Amino acid sequence: LALKSIADFPIGVAVPVDPWPNSLLRSKQRQALVEKHFSSLTAENGMKMAYLQPRPGEFEFTHADALVNYAKSHGLVVHGHALVWHTQAAPWMDEYQGPAYRFTEMLDSHVRNVATHFAGKLKSWDVVNEAFTDDSPSDYRPTIWFNNIGPGYIERAFRLAREADPNVELYYNDYNISGAVPAKLDRVLAMLDDFLARGVPIDGLGFQVHIDTESPSLEAIRDAFSRAAKRGIKVRISELDIAVNQSEQYDALSPAVAELQAKRYQQVIQAYLDTVPPKLRGGITVWGLTDGDSWIPGFKQRQDWPLLFDDNFADKPALVGMANGLESQ
Ligand code: G3I
Repeated sequence: LALKSIADFPIGVAVPVDPWPNSLLRSKQRQALVEKHFSSLTAENGMKMAYLQPRPGEFEFTHADALVNYAKSHGLVVHGHALVWHTQAAPWMDEYQGPAYRFTEMLDSHVRNVATHFAGKLKSWDVVNEAFTDDSPSDYRPTIWFNNIGPGYIERAFRLAREADPNVELYYNDYNISGAVPAKLDRVLAMLDDFLARGVPIDGLGFQVHIDTESPSLEAIRDAFSRAAKRGIKVRISELDIAVNQSEQYDALSPAVAELQAKRYQQVIQAYLDTVPPKLRGGITVWGLTDGDSWIPGFKQRQDWPLLFDDNFADKPALVGMANGLESQ
């Protein structure tokens, strides 16, 4: 069983780069899984603003470059994440006290430098991540970028990215848009429609799909993917994981719950294949390799087992569920 051989679109995983302890480049066991199952890599943190530009005008590409080189030598593509985000902007950006127009310069310089550095080496970029609120109606999230530049910062980032790298695919990426907050998907699609109508360069929409075994409903997930695909743009599942312990009812992953999770992986993948035609499939990336690598326990302060491999690097039923989903095409 090797996921990548079942799909004719990128099957990816998010991984830490150096200097994080679980760095792919320091772990032979992780490399073995990556090389067997995946055809695409995303840096879980290492290509975010804080890490690529830790001090004003000082870019640090060493670790991200090492990942790109590893990917190249093993025949994987790389999805860049993310040129512009408010979380994990560099602390010096967050703390900057000068005039608002300086934020435009900051954004321009970051996007230009980073997109130029990686030009020709990446398959795709998340150009802007998480720019809208979870409210109903959803609106622009009041981030340092929005507050200082205004809503035009999003379009600006896409235009700059295209200028710097003519062939890379440009995505807008967000969470809770695969059914959880319908008003947020409405808002994102309104922006997409506007961009497409005005010729702002954008190639696709990334659905993060951080979900659990209960919600959102499969119907809501299918509906969300299909609304995006109807625009004729590429659709990625960019950060897939399926939590099981959302009510904190378990202290271990039982076989029954593991099977429930496997079924859910299968259904989500099937929903993607049913609603997104082959030429619009930008790929599916899972957000981490082993359960112990997942962001969820730290972030949500609870145990969980949301991924495809356990802490001993062994296949979980979820892996089989994902494979079954891919085979359904
Ligand atoms: O780098 C510091 C380190 O110096 C320090 O010692 C350590 C102590 O806590 O923290 C380290 O920073 C952590 C960073 O990951 C790198 O490991 C942050 O605390 C931690 O909050 C951060 O979490 C990341 C999170 O984004 C930030 O919001 C997760 O690993 C990462 O999986 C997660 O990924 C996001 C996507 O980028 C966007 N979509 C949602 C997704 C899940 O939250």
